[in-house]
Parts: sequence; C-alpha cells; structure tokens
Amino acid sequence: MKTVIKRADESAIEEAVHLLKSGEIVALPTETVYGLACNTLDSTAITKVFAAKNRPQDNPLIVHVADENMLREFGLCLGGLFETFVPNFWPGPLTAICIKTREIIPPEISCGLKTVAVRVPDSPIMLEIIKRCGFPLAAPSANLSGSPSPTTAQHVFDDLQGRIPLILDGGACSVGLESTVIDCETVLHGPEVILILRPGAVTPEMLSKFAAVEVDNIVLEKAAGIESARSPGTIHKHYSPKAEVVAVIAESRDTFWDYVNRSFGIYGNDTYSIIENPEMQTLFAKFRECDRVGVKRIFVRLPQPEGVGLALYNRIIRAAEFNIVKALDRK
Ligand code: TXA
Ligand code: MG
Repeated sequence: MKTVIKRADESAIEEAVHLLKSGEIVALPTETVYGLACNTLDSTAITKVFAAKNRPQDNPLIVHVADENMLREFGLCLGGLFETFVPNFWPGPLTAICIKTREIIPPEISCGLKTVAVRVPDSPIMLEIIKRCGFPLAAPSANLSGSPSPTTAQHVFDDLQGRIPLILDGGACSVGLESTVIDCETVLHGPEVILILRPGAVTPEMLSKFAAVEVDNIVLEKAAGIESARSPGTIHKHYSPKAEVVAVIAESRDTFWDYVNRSFGIYGNDTYSIIENPEMQTLFAKFRECDRVGVKRIFVRLPQPEGVGLALYNRIIRAAEFNIVKALDRK
C-alpha cells in the first residue's frame, strides 16, 4: 500500500472523511500526538488499526468524540464526579474512563473491559473530521507499538509507511505527550477520588481543584502483570527509541553533568546524546532524532515528578525500561 502525506486542506479533509466512512484507517493530527483513526463502530476497521501498529490485543483504544452530546448519543456517560469537571477540560488532553449506558460501542474497542476511554481532542482538523463522519473516531497514537509517539506527520510516515493509505499533516503537535487518562474508582477509592492512570498535560494539581487525586502505582512503577493493571496499556514496553535510555536522578545540574562525564569512560566510544531539560513538546521528537542519526545511548535527567514533570518522568522511565541511576554528588 502506498502511504501519502497531505497537508490538511479542504480536499484532504474530505478524502480522510471518505476513507474513514469506507472502513479505512487514517493518521490525523491531534494536539497531543498524531492518532491512527478509524470508525469506532466498525469492527473490521478496528482490526486494521491493531494490525497496522502491531498493537497487543489486550490494549484498549481511546474513543474521540466531537462533544458531550456525541458521547451520550453513542451510549456513553461520564458518570457522577466526572460530570462535574471533565467537560471543563474539553476539548483538551484529558481522557476519562466512561460507563456504557447502551451497547453501541463494540467490545473490540475496550478489549472486553466494561468501560470506554473517551476524550474530545483540541484539534480543529480532527474535530471537523469527526463531525463530518458523524461517528466517533477510535484512535491510538499513530506509531508502531512500543516506539515513541509521533508528534509530526513525518514521524507517522517513518513508522507506518506502507501500512496506511493517508496521513494528514497538521504540523507539529502543540502538547507533544499523550493525554492524561483518569478513572473514577468507586469501590477502592470512594466516589470522590480521581485516579490518574496515565499522567499528561492535565496535571494532578489541576485536577485536585475538583476532588482528591490519587496517582495509580503504575505511573511510577513497573507493572507486575496484566491482572493487576487497571489500564492495560501501561504494562507494555513503551515510548522506547532504539538507543538505550539512561534515566538519571540528579540533585543539581552539576551532579548530572559530573555523572554524564564520568560515564563516557565506562561506555567507551559509543555515540551518545544528552537531554538535560526534558520538555513535553520535544521529548519524543528528540528520541526519534537520536535514532535517525544513530545515537547509541541517551542520558536524560529526570524532572521532579510533579506538575507536567510527572508525565515526563513516567515516559522517560518507561523509555529507559526502568534503567534508573542516581548520580551521587562527589563534592
Ligand atoms: O493523547 C492521546 O490520548 C492519544 C491521541 C491520539 O488522542 N491517544 C493515545 O492512545 O495515546 P493510546 O492507544 O496510545 O493510549 C491509550 C491508553 C492506553 O494506556 C490504554 O490502556 C488506556 O488508554 N485505556 C483505553 N481504554 C481504557 C479503559 N477502558 N480503561 C483503562 N484504560 C484504558
Ligand atoms: Mg500509544
């Protein structure tokens, strides 16, 4: 299959809508990362998404709707606590685990879970396409499973060339990391608790204005296994460039650089790269650039796990496959 990248003008948007209505899959820009979209109601199209990405069969998809009305129209509801604040963040990088009120969304979307993850993306292109389609678009990140999520059309092309017909180019994503995923766990945590399954640009601090916030263990730890994972996607290898990532905890800039300098002696002549101040918008792009130029090892200084730092921390330790070192201050 030939894959084409098209600037997201009127004719390309119409072509995307036509393909989606005919059961095809199309890569589209969102404000977080590029998504690989299909008709949520079409089981065959859903299968194509899983196949194109080599996505594990137990990792459910996020459903993208144009607004809350569409959510209700397709038999979904935010429920209780979420009704009171989730709409404040939409459109935007917040995904809420929703309850089904009717069986409209096919079970393949959620890999058999009773719930469905939903968000309203803040991308005029994606919103326009959802409206013209008239059905919600299921869309995981448009990368090969395991690799860093794509934040440009070229990143999508590098991973999915030959596997999908069309990539709409809407420029670089403004957020650069995947959405925050939240659940409302009524049994274990009580009805007033927001549980963060995956951190993103919507931070715990922002959510704590509305209710108590808990961060799921999985955010900062390695999952024991699928049975214990509330968000199945979190147990799979994730966000990794081909280069080895070393996640460095360092009290100060000096301690970090001291560690990096000493490491060169240990690792010899391998080409390396250094990310001292990881940022949401550029982290994944930098990982991909390192692979493009053949870097073997990337030293990344871990930010404090608070604010957006929590999301960066979560992605970096996974990219490093939990290879976390503490740089000691030698002074
Ligand atoms: O920003 C984003 O969320 C991007 C753009 C394209 O919208 N999408 C994205 O999708 O990151 P994906 O498939 O890469 O990640 C979906 C995450 C996974 O961690 C998955 O386990 C979780 O959402 N998820 C989906 N449905 C769920 C459910 N019913 N319960 C718990 N977690 C769920
Ligand atoms: Mg993904």
